Amino acid sequence: MKPKVLVTHRLLHEAIAYLNKHVDLEVGTQKAFLTKEELIEKVKDKEGILPLLTARIDKDVMDAAPMLKIIANCSVGYDNIDIEYARRKGIMVTNTPGVLTETTADLSWALILAVARKIPQADAFARANKYLGWELDLFLGKEITGKCLGIIGMGRIGKAIAQRAMGFQMKIIYTDPKELSEEFRKKYNAFCVPLDELLRTADIVTIHTTLNPQTHHLISRGQLRLMKKDAILVNVSRGPVVDELALAEALEEGQIWAAGLDVYEREPEIEERLLSLDNVVLLPHIGSATYETRLKMAMMAVKNLVQGLSGQKPDNLVS
Ligand code: DGY
Repeated sequence: MKPKVLVTHRLLHEAIAYLNKHVDLEVGTQKAFLTKEELIEKVKDKEGILPLLTARIDKDVMDAAPMLKIIANCSVGYDNIDIEYARRKGIMVTNTPGVLTETTADLSWALILAVARKIPQADAFARANKYLGWELDLFLGKEITGKCLGIIGMGRIGKAIAQRAMGFQMKIIYTDPKELSEEFRKKYNAFCVPLDELLRTADIVTIHTTLNPQTHHLISRGQLRLMKKDAILVNVSRGPVVDELALAEALEEGQIWAAGLDVYEREPEIEERLLSLDNVVLLPHIGSATYETRLKMAMMAVKNLVQGLSGQKPDNLVS
């Protein structure tokens, strides 16, 4: 008999076809979310769960699934899973590292440029037939070339951001619990500095850290006050790393020049005050959203799941 598996949301059809060969599959929902009650009901007889990052797999969900062996997350971040509790219960957890690095770095740069050059605002202006002729001061943005880029979190994505920044001849500073080796430091010409110094110095601050108790609200009122008045803040990591209310205040009061967000504190909810601001560009968590990358993520997740259920060590075991 094939092991029973819950995929919390719809996946790309290639991944579903792979799963159908190996497991007895239930797809939780075609809509955006399963409620916690629905999730608890559906996991009762399952040996595996493949959640998207929007499905919270906590103690209650794990306790409702006495046969659960593996949770194969379809994302690199796994803050939606109570990893400590899974470890205690001997439930494997896997993620999808590596395959989304370049795509997420591309989107981060798209967001930096969109904010700096007011691209969404200019597009809306042109579509509204408001373009009446070239003017010297129409949609004046910020220069990128030669500026100082501050990268918070110099992991895989942080390094891919730095690589691209070299094309803009930027000065690169970063914070990370682990300092780069001399070889990497030279490769990216990047200098490790304390967070306060990064915030005081950088023209563009871009966040690529994981979410954990140490990084929750890493950027809040005090930190935003340290930033330059003409600085840009971009977050493509996890929403709760930035105190969204404090950011809205900083943008309203002109404490910083502008921001770009792909992630939010209470996704899919977005802080009401941000929605009415003209100096923030808002995206719906699309950092890794290309067909090629999302397919790689889905295939990686389903392979991890099948490996775990067939007694092999999954390739991307987190715990
Ligand atoms: C992840 O994988 O953690 C991203 O947020 C979605 O690609």
